[in-house]
Amino acid sequence: MLLTIDNLTMRYPRAESCALDNVALNLTAGERVAVLGQSGSGKSTLVRCINRLVEPQSGRVAWDGQDVLGLKPEQLKRYRRDVGMIFQNFALVDRLDVLHNVLVGSFGRQPWWRPLLGRYSAEEVAMALDALKRVGMSDKAAARADRLSGGQRQRVGIARALMQKPRLILGDEPVSSLDPVIARSVLSLLREISEQDSIAVLLNLHNVELARFFAHRIVGIHAGRIVYDGPADGLTNEVLARVYPPEA
Ligand SMILES: Nc1ncnc2c1ncn2[C@@H]1O[C@H](COP(=O)(O)OP(=O)(O)OP(=O)(O)O)[C@@H](O)[C@H]1O
Ligand SMILES: [Mg+2]
Repeated sequence: MLLTIDNLTMRYPRAESCALDNVALNLTAGERVAVLGQSGSGKSTLVRCINRLVEPQSGRVAWDGQDVLGLKPEQLKRYRRDVGMIFQNFALVDRLDVLHNVLVGSFGRQPWWRPLLGRYSAEEVAMALDALKRVGMSDKAAARADRLSGGQRQRVGIARALMQKPRLILGDEPVSSLDPVIARSVLSLLREISEQDSIAVLLNLHNVELARFFAHRIVGIHAGRIVYDGPADGLTNEVLARVYPPEA
């Protein structure tokens, strides 16, 4: 098992209720999971618990069988490299060109100060160019990031994540600021890469159709609890009513 989550409970300081309540979830290599749920249901918190941005009150997140909260610095570095991230706002450096935005993703392979000097090895540059080719952005390598459209930005974000040679890519609403057609093309690209490289991908999505299109498996969360975990084609109206209950 790539990622194992057990009994995960997370309550933010001073919050009245749990953001996540006894959540369990396993991920295998190459699996694509879409997480659906209303606003406030706990989707972002789940991603934050996986990448250690917040510390849960109880429960366990394990990577390759090892508890991620107990990782030693060297192991933590490897974990950070294994888990790539893509972002809703893309998180590119606007004043840098596309190639250098991708090269930023080679952190963890080199001393931390090297990118600050703008020094990358020929091998890293070759890797970055290859990543740009895979996302269909070779011809934009020299363009400044702030000249790109949203869809192009997310392609660069994916190329940057690929520099880590990740085994899992996490995305908290990575296509929410794109129009539906572009959103679909970005998800289709991620799907292709996940298949080619056997990278597991877990995305929080807001759109049921896109979730069905993208994922093998859907996890539905309501009020911090998993109310559905199953195949994309099992997402019946009855299940959807559990994930998105009508206002009382
Ligand atoms: N930093 C925080 N401090 C306190 N409470 C928080 C914090 N972040 C989230 N919460 C609360 O935790 C619960 C889950 O929030 P979370 O952001 O995980 O939901 P979400 O499913 O990602 O929502 P959205 O679809 O709006 O992004 C909500 O009740 C939210 O108000
Ligand atoms: Mg969120």
